[in-house]
Amino acid sequence: MKTGDKYIMLEKYSELQQKALDDPEKFWGEQAKCLEWDKTWDKALDWNPPYAKWFKGGSLNASYNCVDRHIKGNRRNKAAIICEKEDGSCGILTYYELYREVNKFANVLENLGVEKGDVVTIYMPMMTEAIIAMLACSRIGAIHNVVFSGFSSDALADRINDSKSKILVTTNLLYRRGKEIDLKKILDKALLNCNSIKHVVYAKRGIEEFNLVSGKEYFWDELMGGAKSYVEPVPVESEHPLFILYTSGTTGSPKGVVHSTGGYLTYATKTMDWTWGLNEMDVFWCTADIGWITGHTYVVYGPLSLGATIVLYEGAIDYPEPDRLWGIVENHGVTILYTAPTAIRMLMMYGEKWVNTHDLSTLRLLGSVGEPINPRAWKWYYKVIGKEKCPICDCYWQTETGGHIIYPPIGIQSVPLKPGSATFPGIGIDVDVVDNEGNPVDANVKGNLIIKRPWPGMLAGLWNNDERYRAAYWDRFKNKFSTSDYAIKDQDGYIWVLGRSDEVLNVSGHRIGTAELEHELVSNKMVAESAVVGKPDDVKGEVPVAFVILNEKYRELPSNEVKAELIKHIRDTVGPIGTPAMIFFVNKLPKTRSGKIMRRILKKLIMGEEIGDVTTLEDNTSLEEVKKELEDFK
Ligand code: PRX
Repeated sequence: MKTGDKYIMLEKYSELQQKALDDPEKFWGEQAKCLEWDKTWDKALDWNPPYAKWFKGGSLNASYNCVDRHIKGNRRNKAAIICEKEDGSCGILTYYELYREVNKFANVLENLGVEKGDVVTIYMPMMTEAIIAMLACSRIGAIHNVVFSGFSSDALADRINDSKSKILVTTNLLYRRGKEIDLKKILDKALLNCNSIKHVVYAKRGIEEFNLVSGKEYFWDELMGGAKSYVEPVPVESEHPLFILYTSGTTGSPKGVVHSTGGYLTYATKTMDWTWGLNEMDVFWCTADIGWITGHTYVVYGPLSLGATIVLYEGAIDYPEPDRLWGIVENHGVTILYTAPTAIRMLMMYGEKWVNTHDLSTLRLLGSVGEPINPRAWKWYYKVIGKEKCPICDCYWQTETGGHIIYPPIGIQSVPLKPGSATFPGIGIDVDVVDNEGNPVDANVKGNLIIKRPWPGMLAGLWNNDERYRAAYWDRFKNKFSTSDYAIKDQDGYIWVLGRSDEVLNVSGHRIGTAELEHELVSNKMVAESAVVGKPDDVKGEVPVAFVILNEKYRELPSNEVKAELIKHIRDTVGPIGTPAMIFFVNKLPKTRSGKIMRRILKKLIMGEEIGDVTTLEDNTSLEEVKKELEDFK
């Protein structure tokens, strides 16, 4: 690898990379020994495109690997989870305590009739019970389906119904910005439409009493009181699904991404190590919510598999004051902080004075994930937070990839960084940047980011939807994995991820499909048609902007009232992250002659850019109308 005239000596990385690409089966077979297996695999990789079976014939248990094996040795009394709540209360769960809780809750699930292969939905904020429930599922071979607790009742119901989940584990209250949010109300509404749910377990909080449906609903504490303290971990086949996690796609409803046990856990564990090079003194804080993949891999499975101490914080990172996050780093001696550019930008806006009252000297590595990090935020993070001594690990990956796929392998050796680039392909990851026909593009030319061969963390499939699995990831570049991201590889081999090439928005590092928002908008009786596009935003990265055609009889209503109603509708059906930053009412949308909405044009108009070629446009008046709306808005 070279940068300018200087050659970068990444010997250790290059050596591992060479081994991984020369003989992937042998390489990954060796790496999988980071886990304890009940039965060793017969074949490390069985690749039958586009399906990969990793460690075929092997069996293991994920909860055993994340808790049992640590309590047999020196980590028995080590802090597994340091949990802090927004009100300042704090608790610690040692590995032994975590082990006991996981066992008991596994028994609770067994008593409720949960068996291997059943789906359990977990709808909870960042509370320890959520992690306990995830690990308890894996202990008995149940498949968890964690739904982000900020999602609305409709979004929750859709995910329960698509996964045919039998059990829901949840809580009645959320704490956010000093307020209590009534989750029970959202749950009650969702449950009206969820016939597959047989039982609901509430980890009850707050003083408010509420009634349970007898024989169906229970309190966590009561069930745990009578539970057995040991449940034999069930060895599952390596390909057995560990979890489903729904994520937004280009079209239609969210996709149920399935991750297998052996491949995923191996990849989570190894990337955790290669990225951060954990040691026993580390306190690792990944601020992602467990409702997203980052929470799955780098709050739960990666760190716990390695026996690390994690911080789990439930609340806003700038509440009650803008220095909350820095206070947590100081109080718990966090050594590795892993957060998102949107959070960095927000904290940067508050200014250095909020940082400088805290001792951040324990920090040794800083991570960034979720979207490209802009150089200004990168430099602030590096200088003001890391005091120019903590490398920035910009980690690029997706729900589908299971773990980091482009990242600086700082756990192995130091890497010269370039602000805004996630650096090099991860170990064992064979990426390329190609044109629309699949031919590699030259250095510094924008193209599509693809992965040319399987890796253990890759999704095992989409829940009950093979056709969509092939179409979404494998058909376009003939059995090579399409990330749907644009990227550039520079003259030194650094990869710069530029953003999505499809109709998916990235709002504060959260994926949200424009199709999903449009679908929900037109489900409102006032809306005839809509088009949603993303607009760059200084803090959130991107925000949704909606163009809406109202049905005739609602056109005379005051537009502010209609806007408020539509925003409420999106918050109720999708959740607050889908809230459009602006709504414009028009009579026509720019469309091709075949009737496809030209979002590309809308986006350019919002950005004030040249529109370019519009020969395929059906009718120019739509353009004029949108332009006028935008002008009036200014
Ligand atoms: O566009 C990329 C962006 O986030 C998308 C994946 O979103 P999700 O599946 O929700 O997972 C988010 C956390 C892994 C990608 O397709 N993305 C993620 N990390 C980066 C990024 N874009 C640039 N740089 C990153 N470090």
